[in-house]
Amino acid sequence: MDKLVIEGGVKLKGDVTISGSKNSLLPILAATLLTDEPCIINNAPNLRDTNTMLKILRSLGKNTELDKATVSVLSTPKTNFVADYKFVSTMRASFCVLGPLVAKLKKAKVSLPGGCVIGARPVDLHLKGLKALGVNINIESGYVVAKAKRLHAEHIYLGGEYGSSVLATDNVMMAACLAKGKTIIESAACEPEVADLAELLIKMGAKIKGHGSPIIEIEGVKNLGGAEHTIIPDRIEAGTFMLASLITGGDIHLKNVFPYHLSALIDKLKETGVKVISTSKSIRLRRQIRLKPINITTLPFPGFPTDMQAQMMSFMCITPGISVITEKIYPDRFMHVAELNRMGAHIQREGPHAIVEGVKRLSGAPVMASDLRASAGLVLAGLVATGKTSISRIYHLERGYEDLDKKLQALGARIWEEKE
Ligand code: UD1
Repeated sequence: MDKLVIEGGVKLKGDVTISGSKNSLLPILAATLLTDEPCIINNAPNLRDTNTMLKILRSLGKNTELDKATVSVLSTPKTNFVADYKFVSTMRASFCVLGPLVAKLKKAKVSLPGGCVIGARPVDLHLKGLKALGVNINIESGYVVAKAKRLHAEHIYLGGEYGSSVLATDNVMMAACLAKGKTIIESAACEPEVADLAELLIKMGAKIKGHGSPIIEIEGVKNLGGAEHTIIPDRIEAGTFMLASLITGGDIHLKNVFPYHLSALIDKLKETGVKVISTSKSIRLRRQIRLKPINITTLPFPGFPTDMQAQMMSFMCITPGISVITEKIYPDRFMHVAELNRMGAHIQREGPHAIVEGVKRLSGAPVMASDLRASAGLVLAGLVATGKTSISRIYHLERGYEDLDKKLQALGARIWEEKE
């Protein structure tokens, strides 16, 4: 297993091109199961999760090819309706093959994903939505066994205890495309990645309105065709590079980024004393004055993304004063707190809150990555810490950041991989 070693203290400078969004790509690849015709997906990041999803598609009877940043998905005469535990247990997003499979083949058997380090992560909303569309669902030996004669439209309220669900909205929206009549999803997730999926589905022939808002209307059609689509930029990768620029006191120019997908982060950075210079597809930041502490609460889009919480915490660690994080999506998503404290941070966790007292400096230490975004938080801390930080279990990072070490090296960072 590899580890990532960072010698901190370099001000990162230069241009970085943000890759396509992982969270858009994965459900979009699942959507190709809704058609027998070819689909071409551009601006696809080459990630561990991408390759897992391509393996799943192949196991379900598709031919796939990833060439540079373009994925081609073609049908074969073989179809399969079982998504195996070995895939779904490693990558939760694979659960969103359930909606397309049952809508297209009228049957599906998809492993339940189980929990993960950031919390329980149930799938009740996915199942509630699909049942409302007329899918018969049983749980057998850890699998969801779904059967349907013809899916029918329904008015579905899809809000849960923690608000809307991204992948449940995706799953139900994809299934509803082939249901008879007009489905309304109320309390739908408004994330740009859901809207991006809807854009692909529309290109495939689906009739969808309201995507990007909490009420999505889907008029079912009999068949969907092939399509070509370009994935939106990854707002979480962009946010991570924005904080890399700030935390090191550097000057990174982000390209291929949609600033309006990052409004909650930009707003908080302005509050802490940062000037944000943006065009429609680029961002650059300037630290104006002494940084001020800030409070953030993670919420569904357009609120502050939970996927930026760990990276923001690292930034708060070196921001003078007391900052508070309230985690409202995954109240247990704080595995990185103990690791940051090992680097000299002063963070106290109290239930869903983390109280961060800014320190003058962090010091490098061996730390362990627990999940994808926590790992990104540790990389940021390593970039500003004095001395050497080594982060083990970096396969987490490879799931969601394309060439992170190479992109950081190009900006001047002293970062490299080593065998553990
Ligand atoms: C997606 C993202 C993930 C991000 C998360 C929240 C992808 C591939 N992953 O995950 O990076 O952290 O959104 O922005 O897009 N919930 C239920 N019942 C359900 C489903 C979810 O109670 O059936 C809860 C979850 O436990 C959580 C909240 O709803 O508290 C939001 O989760 P959800 O939006 O579903 O996350 P994912 O779609 O799995």
